[in-house]
Amino acid sequence: MRGLARLIGRKPVERHWDTLGARNAYGAILTGEGGAVPEWDADAFFATGRADVERFMADLLRLAPDVPRRRALDFGCGVGRITRALSDHFAEVAGVDAAPSMVERARALNQSQTRCTFALNREPNLRLFDTARFDVVYSRLVLQHIESQVVRRYIPEFVRVLGPGGVLMFQLPEPVNAEQAFCEAPVTGNAFKRWLPASMIRPWRRFKYRLIVDLSARMEMFGVSRDEVLSLVAGAGGRILEVQPDQSHGQDVPGYAYWVTTGEHRDWPAPPAPRTGRPPEPASRLAV
Ligand SMILES: C[S@@+](CC[C@H](N)C(=O)[O-])C[C@H]1O[C@@H](n2cnc3c(N)ncnc32)[C@H](O)[C@@H]1O
Repeated sequence: MRGLARLIGRKPVERHWDTLGARNAYGAILTGEGGAVPEWDADAFFATGRADVERFMADLLRLAPDVPRRRALDFGCGVGRITRALSDHFAEVAGVDAAPSMVERARALNQSQTRCTFALNREPNLRLFDTARFDVVYSRLVLQHIESQVVRRYIPEFVRVLGPGGVLMFQLPEPVNAEQAFCEAPVTGNAFKRWLPASMIRPWRRFKYRLIVDLSARMEMFGVSRDEVLSLVAGAGGRILEVQPDQSHGQDVPGYAYWVTTGEHRDWPAPPAPRTGRPPEPASRLAV
């Protein structure tokens, strides 16, 4: 089964998001009940971003009242729902996303938002940004859709781009095994299906699941355990301010919002070396 899926070619997560963004970006970002993809009115959609940022700012000012308000990063910005709202509070806000369709729409929808810029980044790092560039880094409803091994590379990068006294907030569930849940769900349907042994049902479902994931644009869910997140943050020189229960991803497994700051003194982690061995490209060349 895996062989066939490989033969077909498993799509990287960001290609699914590129398709979703081109189809109905608002509905893919804020899904409805049971994963439905609603048609959003643009004003109502962006109003949800302002409400989210009001809540975020209240927590931010409670945890770090003196946080500087110069530059913020919105990681996985989609069409700029949060980027735009953050620009009411910060002098400059950079939105970064891995899906070209999302970045294009973000730029088109936010032309009048002079404090916002949008960049495409398909690398498993944030090399396009200098070390200690941002006062605040925000990421919600994003890491849950990125494969765990890639999330493990982004977390130290979030800490690296955070300036002294800055604050990072990201939301992430515990590991989610969507494929296992799909394969092991109780059999419903006609009597024949229910009569079939689990040893036949499971491989068939695994095959179906992989075909659906590979051939259709669909949101996959991933996660990293809380203990591992805490050790990734500490290893990168970050200090946890607070960990809040956060079920934005759904109810299947526990999830958290991690609030992190940089110590007063720390050894800056070096940016990851370019995979090609070439020197890093300047940000202006990576931002399309
Ligand atoms: C559910 S949307 C959330 C958008 C935005 N954070 C918001 O709340 O409005 C998830 C976004 O994550 C983006 N994304 C997925 N993988 C990414 C990656 N590796 N780097 C940056 N963005 C990514 C998708 O393209 C999509 O725009």
